[in-house]
Parts: sequence; C-alpha cells; structure tokens
Amino acid sequence: MKSIAAIILAAGKGTRMKSKLVKVMHPLAGAPLIEYPLSAAREASATQIVVVIGHQAEAVRDHFSGCGDISFALQEQQNGTGHAVACAAPLLQGFNGNVLILCGDVPLTKAETLRDLLQHHEERQATVTVLTASLENPFGYGRIIKNNAGEVTAIVEEKDATPEQRAINEINSGIYCVAAEFLFSAVSRLGSDNAQGEQYLTDIIRMAVEQDLSCAAHQIADPLEVMGINDRVQLAAAEAVLRQRINESQMLAGVTLRDPATTYLDRGTLIGRDTVIGPNVHISGQSEIGEDCLIEPGAIIRGCRIGNRVVVKAGSVLENSIVHDAVSIGPMAHLRPGTELLDEVKIGNFVETKKVIMGKGSKASHLTYLGDASVGSDVNIGCGTITCNYDGVSKHRTVIEDGVFVGSDVQFVAPVTIGNNSLIAAGTTVTEDVPPGSLAIGRCRQVNKEGWRKK
Ligand code: UD1
Ligand code: CA
Repeated sequence: MKSIAAIILAAGKGTRMKSKLVKVMHPLAGAPLIEYPLSAAREASATQIVVVIGHQAEAVRDHFSGCGDISFALQEQQNGTGHAVACAAPLLQGFNGNVLILCGDVPLTKAETLRDLLQHHEERQATVTVLTASLENPFGYGRIIKNNAGEVTAIVEEKDATPEQRAINEINSGIYCVAAEFLFSAVSRLGSDNAQGEQYLTDIIRMAVEQDLSCAAHQIADPLEVMGINDRVQLAAAEAVLRQRINESQMLAGVTLRDPATTYLDRGTLIGRDTVIGPNVHISGQSEIGEDCLIEPGAIIRGCRIGNRVVVKAGSVLENSIVHDAVSIGPMAHLRPGTELLDEVKIGNFVETKKVIMGKGSKASHLTYLGDASVGSDVNIGCGTITCNYDGVSKHRTVIEDGVFVGSDVQFVAPVTIGNNSLIAAGTTVTEDVPPGSLAIGRCRQVNKEGWRKK
C-alpha cells in the first residue's frame, strides 16, 4: 500500500453550538471531538496528519502540543473546504501517497471504515474515492452524481442542485481518499463560482473527470458513522453512540456492567477483568482500575489509578488519587487530589482525604478529615478526627507514624508529628509533637456535680 497522510478540516467555528468554545474542542466521552477523526486516521496508518485550524487555532494547537505526527495549517478565513485543503498542501510538500480527508466534527467514523475506504481506493485504482451513505432525508448534504458505469462524475451541493439532483439519496460524507499529487494540483486551481461563493473541495471530482481520472464511491451501511456534529443535540446523540461502543468493548473484555445504560466510562478508561461496575457509575479522566474490583452504584472516579480487589462503595467520589490493592472506600467517602492509599487501607463513610498518603492496613472508618498528612501503616484513626492543616495563611503537614492509635474526636493542629506506636486519647487537641510510644491526652478533667439536676 502507498503511504498515507491525513488532512483534518477543523477551521470552522461551529456557530450552532452557541458556545464560547470552538466546536471541535467540545468534549465527547472524555476527549475533544477532534480526537476521534484524528485517532481513526492514526489507526488507519496515517503517518502524517495536518489539522486545518482557524477559529481558536491556539486552543486546538495547544491540545495537541507534543504530538510529533501532527502539524497545523492556519486557514485565516473560511473560504470553503477546497481552500482549507489548499492551506494544508504546503505542509505535505513532496508527499505522493494517498491523502485521507476527514472532518474534525465527524466523530463516529471507525478506523476499519477508513481502512476499507483506502483498500477500495487502491483496488479501483481511483484518483478520488468518496465515502458516501444513503440517507432517507439527504437534505443539506452534497449529492453524489454517477454515470451508467457507477463512477462518480460530480458532487453537487444542496444549494446548487437541480430538483432532480436533490432527489438523489446518496450523499457525500465529506470524507475522501485522494491521490496526493492530483489533490494538491487540483485545489490550487479551484474557483468559487457557486451559490455560496466558496472554494468547494467537491469540485475536484469534475476536475478529475476532465482529466480522465477515475472517481469512485465507497458507500457505507451505517450513516451514523458519518454524522457530523453541528449542535448540542447531535453532540449528545454522538456521545450516546460512543458510550455504547465503549461499554460493549469493556464487557467483551471481561468487565461486568450491571447496567450499561447508566454506566459512563470515558474513552481510554482501563478496567481489569472480573471487575463489577454498578449502576450510575461515572469513570473519567484516563482512570485505570484493576481486576476483581467492585464499584458500587453512584461512585464517581476521575483521574485515578486503582489496584486489584478494591471496593468503592456507593456514592463515593475519588479524584486524582492512587489506590493500591484490597482497599475499601466509602460509602460516601471523598478522596481529593493527591491521596494515595497503600494496600488494605480502609476509608469509611464521610471521610475526606486530600494530599494524604496512608500506609498499609491503616483505617479511618468514620467522619474524618485528613489533609496534608502522611499516615504510616497499621494506624487507626478514630471517628471524628480532624487534621487542622490550614492556619488561614498557609497549609501545614501532620505526620502520624506506624502503629499509632488515634482515639475519637482528635484534632491535630499542624505542623505536628506523632511518633510510632503512641496513643492519642479521645477528645485530645494535639498541638505538640508526641514522642514514640507515649500517651497524649489533652482534655479537661471531667467534673461530676452530684444531685445538680434536682437543685
Ligand atoms: C461539505 C461538503 C458536502 C458534504 C458535507 C458533509 C463541500 C463543498 N461540501 O459540506 O458535500 O455533504 O460536507 O458534512 O465540501 N471547514 C474548514 N474551512 C472552511 C470550510 C469548512 O476547515 O473554509 C471545515 C469545517 O470546520 C468542517 C468541515 O470543513 O469541519 C466541513 O465543513 P461544513 O461547512 O460543515 O461542510 P459543508 O460545506 O456544509
Ligand atoms: Ca459550509
């Protein structure tokens, strides 16, 4: 096969999104819209990718910074799809393989569809192959005009079409495979004598036909694959399709989803075998979950790395945290960013952690706030413990060493260090370091006034 490059058209604003954000950067199952055609192109072996940017060019460029296979062509004014490709041409100078042309706002095209398109293009020895679909309602799309031999002879836009042409159901998806040399010479010669006064990429078909070069159509069965996103209704429809695809691939890979219809997994989420996910669970931000875990209903997990045999109980929220093996969390616990829980840690209900490392086997079973702390192994944190980490100006650390037993209702006024195997009596406000092996008790002595009620 010839080498493959891709041009992704993404200069348009997306007015119908009614958004401050350029259309192709709108998130869809955890990745901006434009990532979908881009990764489909990569999976179809495109080795060079040019993204044509215009509106909010910097936002798009920044998102892909550091991707060596992507370059950017700036199209300052959106003079049409043909003009957009012409803007990309200088970046592919000397390339003489096949060019895939994709739209940044068409997210559901599968890589295998692009591979079929490329294969069809080579088999037919075509100069241009258009990906087409047959739509019950083709309104708005360019129509595919064919001769008796089934070769494509033109694409006519809705606004330029005769009533006869408008009756054609086969539409232009806006996705093509084109021989590079022909493409770049053709787009350099495009006019704009049409209803929209734009340089139409679709005019390259007529130009190829004039040069006796062959143009083919490759029709796909599922029109969803070429659905473009113009507004937020279509964005939600595409998200539903993607979510179903993601969930099905997780299930086929050995993950139990008790209710796929309410399971929200981002693209790129990794989940190990025999993990069970309950209803209404949301997992996002490139999270990784190991094997044999149980994620109970209503859990929200963002940007976390979770080991094996972990239980996340109902209603817990985990953000940017690392959880090792056999940890139990929740119900209704909140791990905030920078939490790391080593093996067999137990975090119970209404416990909040932030920038905390907890050693093996340690427990905070109820109603606790641990922030900016390092907790050793086999530590018991009693109910109602609070690290007072903030003095109104800066944050301070609490260090609790191995084997410490913290009674209920204890406050640690940081910075403070609790030596190993010490015991903090219930109700103590700790303001000074505690040496290893000691008892720290800091509370008022109880006074009983007998007979007081009767008086
Ligand atoms: C185009 C096709 C039409 C096809 C339809 C499929 C032409 C002339 N028409 O329609 O046959 O049925 O796609 O959706 O090509 N873009 C730029 N720069 C521009 C113009 C567009 O980058 O100057 C980008 C847009 O951001 C978008 C894509 O190209 O991602 C398609 O543009 P759009 O305006 O939606 O396509 P149409 O011209 O309506
Ligand atoms: Ca247009």
